[in-house]
Parts: sequence; structure tokens; C-alpha cells
Amino acid sequence: MATSQRKILVTSALPYANGPIHLGHMLEYIQTDIWSRYQKLRGHECHYICADDAHGTPIMLKAQQLGIAPEDMIAQVNKEHQQDFADFNIAFDNYHSTHSDENRVLASDIYLKLRANGYIKSKSISQLFDPEKSMFLPDRFVKGTCPKCKSPDQYGDNCDACGATYSPTELINPKSAVSGATPVMKDTEHFFFDLPAFEGMLKEWTRSGALQVEMANKLDEWFEQGLQQWDITRDAPYFGFEIPDAPGKYFYVWLDAPIGYMGSFKNLCDKRPELSFEEFWGKDSTAEVYHFIGKDIVYFHSLFWPAMLHGSGYRQPNSVYAHGYVTVNGAKMSKSKGTFIKARTYLDHLDPEYLRYYYAAKLSSRIDDLDLNLEDFAQRVNSDLVGKLVNLASRTAGFITKRFDGKLAKINDTTLTEAFLAKQEVIAEFYEGREYGKAMREIMALADIANGFVADAAPWQMVKHDDQQEAAHQVCSNALNLFRILVTYLKPVLPRLAQDVEAFFQLPLTWNALNQDLAGHEIAPFKAMMQRVELDKVNAMVADSKDNLQVTADAPKTAAPEKTVESSNVSSEPLVNDPISETINFDDFAKIDLRIARIVKAEHVADADKLLKLQLDIGGETRQVFAGIKSAYSPEDLEGKLTVMVANLAPRKMRFGMSEGMVLAAGPGGSDLWILEPHEGAQPGMRVK
Ligand code: 2FM
Ligand code: ZN
Repeated sequence: MATSQRKILVTSALPYANGPIHLGHMLEYIQTDIWSRYQKLRGHECHYICADDAHGTPIMLKAQQLGIAPEDMIAQVNKEHQQDFADFNIAFDNYHSTHSDENRVLASDIYLKLRANGYIKSKSISQLFDPEKSMFLPDRFVKGTCPKCKSPDQYGDNCDACGATYSPTELINPKSAVSGATPVMKDTEHFFFDLPAFEGMLKEWTRSGALQVEMANKLDEWFEQGLQQWDITRDAPYFGFEIPDAPGKYFYVWLDAPIGYMGSFKNLCDKRPELSFEEFWGKDSTAEVYHFIGKDIVYFHSLFWPAMLHGSGYRQPNSVYAHGYVTVNGAKMSKSKGTFIKARTYLDHLDPEYLRYYYAAKLSSRIDDLDLNLEDFAQRVNSDLVGKLVNLASRTAGFITKRFDGKLAKINDTTLTEAFLAKQEVIAEFYEGREYGKAMREIMALADIANGFVADAAPWQMVKHDDQQEAAHQVCSNALNLFRILVTYLKPVLPRLAQDVEAFFQLPLTWNALNQDLAGHEIAPFKAMMQRVELDKVNAMVADSKDNLQVTADAPKTAAPEKTVESSNVSSEPLVNDPISETINFDDFAKIDLRIARIVKAEHVADADKLLKLQLDIGGETRQVFAGIKSAYSPEDLEGKLTVMVANLAPRKMRFGMSEGMVLAAGPGGSDLWILEPHEGAQPGMRVK
């Protein structure tokens, strides 16, 4: 069915220019790239835009540490980022930098329009100032003791130990993380963006139906809490753009970062005169604009960004699509375990197509986290791509080349072809709706059917009989045509494989040509198209990731944050041949207070997939603990049982309430997870030796 051509602009979040791309980042670029390639495969005009996010205090300080100009550092990082993306076959139509002339012009212009429209307010604020470095300190650059739980060495915005949020001025004994000096309070004039003025417009945008349900719910929560004025100013020294008419004041990095999407597109328009900036960003644009982002930056993209666009006379995005974090082997990416894997380290060992497929197979349109389990990764790629897909061609192509002059037969029985073509709409809808996992399952179910057909027909037997040559020609031609259809369906996910298959068929693979008749068409001799994933290489990648640790000033983006469920660290799946990766000394061990606990009550937690809420009796004291053991136990099976808990873990505030300790469990995960059940004779509160 012909569809009219759409004009689409799609973006991924702009990576910071002070650190390497890692496999957490890659989820988003792969997700967006598949979507953009899919749109192009359907014949739409789609522009995939990105850039480095090059401004801000961490970038300025990192360059200072390295003793180079920030411009030189960001130029170097930009090169590395682009190389990593290119090697993962991420097909950007333009990759630029927020530190560009286009972005400076657009940021100033948007700011001046917002100001002219009355959306910029100015007010004097009091902020912590480092007297040694003569600079105001962002919250993350002040450290001190948590005012709530008294844990030392906490950041100025929230406490890692108890989850409390506060302002840096509340920290006990605050110190500048830049110089170690004690900061002082200092007044400064700042400009604020009047976000509350856009509440009506934002509510309407939220209700337009284009947002993910989880995101619309989150927005409703923020509306209920009330929108706040947004401070868009940073004082010198700062690496960014100076605010017009305000010497020494700079735009906060998050003001010009999303404008970087426009800046990069403007840069593309200047290179390709047939493109019109106005057509995509103008108020009356009928083009479509989508932003793919991680769940940590929803606030910026769903509140500030549409409001800024609206307030300065531009169109709003059609939608913002958020994804979850990547975990590796069930846990946060960890440098010491070697699971904080840089894109480059992956590429040194493994084929990028493997990761593209694995992420696609596990992605949905929801904001759930995605686990890269390295054993499952190897197993799934080997089984699906090598065992099912490429095998279809490798088992049949040789006969066509050797016995039938490399030419395909006219297929007599088109039942399978028709069944495969009948799936094109449903597969298309899954791609369009970002349900890639469902699309992969449909495609692999077809691959199973095709393999069953070849196995039943056994052309390798047929060719031995003179009277079955034509039948063998039919089977092999049929199988190869089905293979061609499958690889066309997979082309957005596996562009390199698709290219090899195009060379093999001597034809471009396009959606419109899915039903092409290949009778008499000549194919090239078959060459190996994909190697199996070898565990040795996976292990070597993990080992290399342990070696090449690099400390960055920023928390990793798009990688999972610290687990909120302590016990799920215990249940995480082992690495391939899991080594004991970190040791602690005896004094550290001696600090852990292990107690026998009786599970007095166990309950489900609304909205939590993995958690149970436990009331634990440790001998006269009752503790509430949230434990990630729901996949293994029903609450009623736990009540009355004894277990072991870490009794002196600092309490943690979770979304569902306080968790006051950790229950120990063991096992590979899922339903194989055991609460330790101490022998009779243990009493609640007893110390565990
Ligand atoms: O969170 C981040 O990594 C930011 N650099 C993303 C910016 S996206 C856009 F707004 F520029
Ligand atoms: Zn605290």
C-alpha cells in the first residue's frame, strides 16, 4: 500500500563532550537509528540529527585538568564520538556541536524573543562561591555532610546514603569540590525563564496523546507539584555562550543544549540548500519532530523545551520518546567488574551488529530498563542471527551456484512467500511504534518456519537424485527468497548484514521490492556473513574494560543509577565465568552487622515489578525492608520464615517508603533466588558470625 511521504526530523540526546561513548549511551543511538533507517526504508524523508553537548562547568574543569583549551578538548572528543558512532553504523544525517556559530545565533535569538515576550525575569540570588577559584559552585561541586543522616562526603543536591534532597547551603561543613576551600555565600543577579506561564500550553501538549503514558503521568505529577521559575544563568568563569546584554553572564548549558538540535539542523540546511529550516521548525510546520532521550532528562525535554519553543515562536515536537537505563548482567554498569564498557572497547572485540540486534530484540516502547546479559547476548545472537537467519542462505546458496548456474528458479508454490509478505504490515507497525522486540519475534518466527521448510525438504538429499534436481532448485530458490524478505525486514537493525546480502543478491533490498519475482535472477557466490559470538571475545572485552578505567567528572548518562533494591545486587546474574572482582579488607567486613530476622509480614508493592515489602523482627525491633525477590517468592510463603539481614545499612528512601536494611538472598536470579533459611535454633536478633 502506498503511503504519502512524510517529512521527519529525529534526534537523539546530545552526548556531553567530556567523556567517551559507552554501551549505556549506545542503547539510545541504536534505538533512534533503527527508527530513522526504518522511516527511510519506507521512503519517507527523514533527517537524523545529533551533536556534542559541549558546554558547562564539568567540561570547563575537565579541560583545565588536562591543561588544554576547552575548544581543543571538545574538538578531540567530537572526533572520537563520531568515529564510535560511525563504527556502530549509526547513520546520522548531521553531527555537529552545541559550541557552534549556528547554535550561538539561535540561542541568542530564542532568548531575545523570550525576553521580548515577557518570559525572562531577573532576580538577585545568593549562591555558594569558591573564594580560592573565584567561581560560583554548581550543587554537584559542593560536598559535605548530609544534614539528615549525617553521612560524610555527600553532594550538594542530594544524599546517596539516605536519598534526602536539600540545597547545598544546608550541607554540614561544606567544601568546594574544585579547590577544597570552604565556600562563602555571595549575591548575584540571575535571569529566570518563566516556566509557570506555560502551564496551560504544556497541559494541552501532554494531552495531545503523543506522549508515552508513563511520561504523561510524570508530567501530571509535576503539574500538581507546581512549575517553578528556571534559572538559566551561570556566572563567569563558564564555558558557554555569553547572554546578550549581560557581560560575564552565560547561558546555563541546558538552555542551549536542546537548541543544539536546531543548530545542527541549521548546519545541515546550509550544506543542503534544498532543505528549509523554517519548514521543520517554523510555527506552522507540518513536518514531524521527535526526540529520543533517556528517562533522566524527561523534565528538560517535556517542560522547558516545548515551553521555550512556544514562547519564542517555534513549533513544538510531535513527541519525546524516553527509554530506560542499561544494566549489565542485572546490575549497574561497574568499572571494577568490567561491565562499564566503552563503545570503542566493544568494537575492539565484537561485531556492532550483535549489539544492534540484541538491543532491538529487548526494546519496547516503554521506559523499562534493559538488561544486557552477556551470556544471553551471545546465546541469542548465535541462535537467531547465525543459527536461524544466515543459516538459511548458507545451507542453500551453494547448490544454486554449483548446480543451477547461480540462477534462481521460478517458484511454483508461493504459499510461504505469501505468508511472509502478509506480515509486512504488522512488522511495519511494530517498527513505527518502537516495539522492536515484537518485530524481532515476528521475524524470527518466520525464520523458524523457513528453516523447518528447508529441513523437511532436505535439498542436500534431493541433489543426490537425478529426478529431484528441479525440486532441489525449487526449495533452494524458495528458501533464498524467504531469506531476502527476512533480511529486508531486518535492514534497519542490521545495516551491514543487509549490505552483504544486497551484494549476494546483486539487488538493493527495499520495502517496495519485497514481493519482487526473482525467477531467473543470478546471485553471487555465497560468502560467510556473520561469525558466531565467541565467549572468549566477550570475556576479553570485559577484561579490557577493567584495564582501561577512566575517571570522568560526570556521572555516566543512560547507565543505570545505583540500585534502589539492595538485595538485587546479590541476585544479579553472574558474569561469564564470574571472577571475584573486588576484595574488601577485614575491617570493612567487620562493619557489616548481620542479624537473624523473622519475616513477620510480606506484601506486594503497588507498581513495583520486583519488590516485596517485608516487616522483619530482629529481636524486639521491627524493620521495614524492600527486597527484590518477588520473582522467586509469593508473600504468603515468606511469612514466619527466618532469614539473614544486614542490620546496619543506612536507611534508604525509596519511591515506596524507607528501606531499613537488606535481606540476603542467593542464586542466579528470576525464580531461582533463595532467601537463606537458617537452621532451627536461630533466634531473631542473633548476630551471624
Ligand atoms: O544528559 C545528557 O547527556 C545531555 N548532554 C543531553 C542533552 S540533550 C539535548 F537537550 F541537548
Ligand atoms: Zn543522608
